[in-house]
Amino acid sequence: MRECSLTIRRSALLNNVAVLRHCMPNSRLLAMVKADAYGHGINQLATWLTPVVDGFGVAFLEEALALRAAGVRIPIAVMEGVFTAEELAQAAQAELQLVVHSLEQVELLTEADPQGLAVMVWLKVNTGMNRLGLRPVDALRAYQRLHVLAGVSRIGLMTHFAAADELDSMLTDAQIGRFRALHEALNREQGSVLSDSLANSAAILAWPETAGEWVRPGIALYGSSPFVDQSAAFFGLQPVMTMRSRVIAIQSVSAGETVGYGATWTATQASQIAVVAVGYGDGYPRHARTGTPVLINGQRCALVGRVSMDMITVDLGETFAQVGDEAVLWGDGLDIDEVARFAGTISYELCCRVTHRPKRIYID
Ligand SMILES: Cc1ncc(COP(=O)(O)O)c(C=O)c1O
Repeated sequence: MRECSLTIRRSALLNNVAVLRHCMPNSRLLAMVKADAYGHGINQLATWLTPVVDGFGVAFLEEALALRAAGVRIPIAVMEGVFTAEELAQAAQAELQLVVHSLEQVELLTEADPQGLAVMVWLKVNTGMNRLGLRPVDALRAYQRLHVLAGVSRIGLMTHFAAADELDSMLTDAQIGRFRALHEALNREQGSVLSDSLANSAAILAWPETAGEWVRPGIALYGSSPFVDQSAAFFGLQPVMTMRSRVIAIQSVSAGETVGYGATWTATQASQIAVVAVGYGDGYPRHARTGTPVLINGQRCALVGRVSMDMITVDLGETFAQVGDEAVLWGDGLDIDEVARFAGTISYELCCRVTHRPKRIYID
């Protein structure tokens, strides 16, 4: 049987939750589990996370409804909100929290007939990301319209950072300033403090002033670093996902011979090439370039030549290996962020793009 697998480790996940809680001990934790929990498998992850987090964040309605259908009872916030009256009714029925990021969504809530049901709304402010959210002045007006509606039970204020992973980012300071100014204005108007939520993983780890009532970690939960120049291990994060496979053939090549499609790599000396059963059909990135690290029997070796659909080729160098030996593509002992850099991408994408082929193994 083909032994390409994805091991997902609960103890690493719990460790990462503890690391994040330690950074912002007074904040409630909304675990971002969109995109199948960043490719880790939403059902199992939701089961593991429910006792240790305060809520879940997903991208769209169907992801939230699937969590409810799986029996999740804790708060779920839908980051893109809803777009039709029917979706709004479904969300209210399922007691979801909805991000409201546009005037169209304010309109939708205003026109809806709540029939006794009310939703918690996260009013999203565009403080500089310029993706979703209302500009502060529009958010202020939207707040005034929303907080009188029978269909709105509570309103919180949310924003999202564009560059919190850049430690010297002026933009983050500006975003914090705009958010706080609006939050304070609304608190004054309201006579109480509105729930607030700013921080993603990078902000939780590096911008203590972004702590709010709620924080929204994603990638750090799964054990990756959001920063280019600081590793996950530096923060005490542990990889939740390990991708493994096995050597299925060894080729001896002579100096001058090439390896793989396109003959893109030429041996400069006699070399032993391990063929490992993983490829882009499994979610290993096709753009991983020659030199990308692969652990064979725990030793760092270098990928050479092109990634195929089902196989990669690895120069064993001084490492001894034979057919059946283990290869780690990322995870335990090999930082996914390093592999991502060699592939010209980020760990988020590597996690999300693992296909259905590798078998999932959930362990403690
Ligand atoms: C609105 C929002 N909040 C939080 C996050 C989590 O971000 P990260 O995975 O960088 O922690 C995301 C992810 O993209 C997001 O879209």
